[in-house]
Amino acid sequence: MSIHFAFADLNLCFLLLSSPDLEDLKINYISAGGAQSPTSGWAASRSAYDARFQTVVQDWKRIRAVNGVFIIKTSDLWGADATQPSNFPMPGDNGDWSSYDAFVQQIISDIRANGMNLDYVTQIELWNEPDLGTVFWSRSQDQYLQMYVRGTRAFRAAFGSGSGQYLPLVGPSTSSRPNPSNTWIQNWLSYLQNNKDAQPDVYNWHLEENNTNDPVYSTQYLRSQLPNYGLSAGIGFQNNEYGTRDQQRPGYSAWHHARYEKVKYNGLRGNWASGSALRDNLADLLLKNSDGSYSYTGEAQEWKIYGSLTGNPCTVTAGSALDSYGISQSSNKKASALVGNNGFTGTANVVFSKISSLASGITRVRAVVERIPYNNGAAVSGTTQVSSTLVNVSNNGVSVPINWTNKDDAYLVTITAA
Ligand SMILES: *[C@@H]1O[C@H](CO)[C@@H](O)[C@H](O)[C@H]1NC(C)=O
Ligand SMILES: *[C@@H]1O[C@H](CO)[C@@H](O)[C@H](O)[C@H]1NC(C)=O
Ligand SMILES: *[C@@H]1O[C@H](CO)[C@@H](O)[C@H](O)[C@H]1NC(C)=O
Repeated sequence: MSIHFAFADLNLCFLLLSSPDLEDLKINYISAGGAQSPTSGWAASRSAYDARFQTVVQDWKRIRAVNGVFIIKTSDLWGADATQPSNFPMPGDNGDWSSYDAFVQQIISDIRANGMNLDYVTQIELWNEPDLGTVFWSRSQDQYLQMYVRGTRAFRAAFGSGSGQYLPLVGPSTSSRPNPSNTWIQNWLSYLQNNKDAQPDVYNWHLEENNTNDPVYSTQYLRSQLPNYGLSAGIGFQNNEYGTRDQQRPGYSAWHHARYEKVKYNGLRGNWASGSALRDNLADLLLKNSDGSYSYTGEAQEWKIYGSLTGNPCTVTAGSALDSYGISQSSNKKASALVGNNGFTGTANVVFSKISSLASGITRVRAVVERIPYNNGAAVSGTTQVSSTLVNVSNNGVSVPINWTNKDDAYLVTITAA
C-alpha cells in the first residue's frame, strides 16, 4: 500500500522524567550529561563532576527501564554546559592534556562501576556543539580536533567494537548541519582523513537552525561527502537534538517523524528548557501543573499516536511541505496516515493507493479525519474528529481532503473498508 504526497525506529527525546510517560510516548533514547544541574563539572571540581555523573546514572536507569539507549554528553560532565564562566578551563589548554586524559579515564571507570558498559546500550558523545564558539567550546577548532582524536582513542581502547562492551562513539555533534558551506565540518572531516582510527561510530549533528531542519537533506549530503575523505558511515547517523522551539508543535513534529522514517535513523528532539526544567517535563512535551502533575501537549499526543501506529509501513511520497508516516493493517482492512507539515495551509489531499493490498474487492472505505491540535501550547487531551465520510474506491485508490487551517496542527487520516 502506498500513500502519495501526504515515517523507523521511533523518535526520541533528549531528556525526560518518569518512565510511564517514556513508555506511553515510546521514547527509547536519551542524551544527557547533567547539564545545568546545580553543580558544575570536572573542570570545576571532582565533587561537582561526581554529582553530575550521578544524574547520568539516574537518567540511564530511566531509559533502561524501557530498554532504551543512553548517550552520555561528556562536555556536560566537564562543565561546559553554557553556564560556565568565560575563564573556564578547557581540555588541552596551554598544551596540557593531563586533566582531560584523567577525565576520560574517570568516565571510563564510572561507566564500569555503575554497570553501564553494556554492548551498544550506552553511547559516548565526545563534545556537544563544539562549533558554537563561546557557548560550548571557547577555544580553537584545532584544540578541539586534538581533543576529539585523543578522547576517541581512549574511549575506544576501553569500549571498542567487538569487545562485548562496545559503546559507540558519537560525533561531531555540531550545532550546524553538513552542507556545502559548512567549513567547520569540512575541517573536521579533513582531520579525520589523516586520523582514520578516530572516525565516529555514529555521525551526529544537530538540526536546530533556522531552516526546515530536514534530516533527509543533510544525511544525503554527508553520505555523498564521506567517500571524498576516505571515511565510511560507521554504524549510522543520528541527530541527537532536532527542532527549533517553533517546530515543537504537532504539525511540524509529525513532519519530522515522517522525515526520520525516510532516513531510518534516530532523531532526538531538542530540549530548549534550562536549569532544573532540563530534566523535567519531558523536554516540554509535557506541561507541569501547579499540583505537580503533568498534562500532555498536542505535540505529546502526536508522539503518542506516532508510537501507536503499528502495521506495515507504507511507501510515502512527500508533498512540497507535507509528509506522512503511514501504516496498513490488512487484518483490519485498515490504513492510517499521520500527516505533518512544515508550513502549509490550505487543502491537502491524502491519496491512498493500492487499496487492494488491504483486501481484494474493497469498493468503499470509511475515511475518518482527526485533528491533533496545537491549541496554542495548552494541554490537549486527545484528537478532535473533523470528519467521517464514505468514499468510493476509484482506480484502486481514495483521496481524502484535509482542510488545513493551522499549520501547527497535525492530522491522522484512517481509512477502513466499509
Ligand atoms: C528565524 O528567521 C525568522 C524569519 O526570518 C526570524 O524572525 C527569527 O528570529 C529567526 N530565528 C532564529 C533563531 O534565528
Ligand atoms: C459511490 O458508489 C455508490 C454505489 O455504486 C453510488 O451509489 C454513489 O453515488 C457513489 N458515490 C459517489 C460520490 O460517487
Ligand atoms: C476550512 O475551515 C475553515 C475554518 O474552519 C472554514 O472557514 C472553511 O469553510 C473550511 N473549508 C472547507 C473547504 O471545508
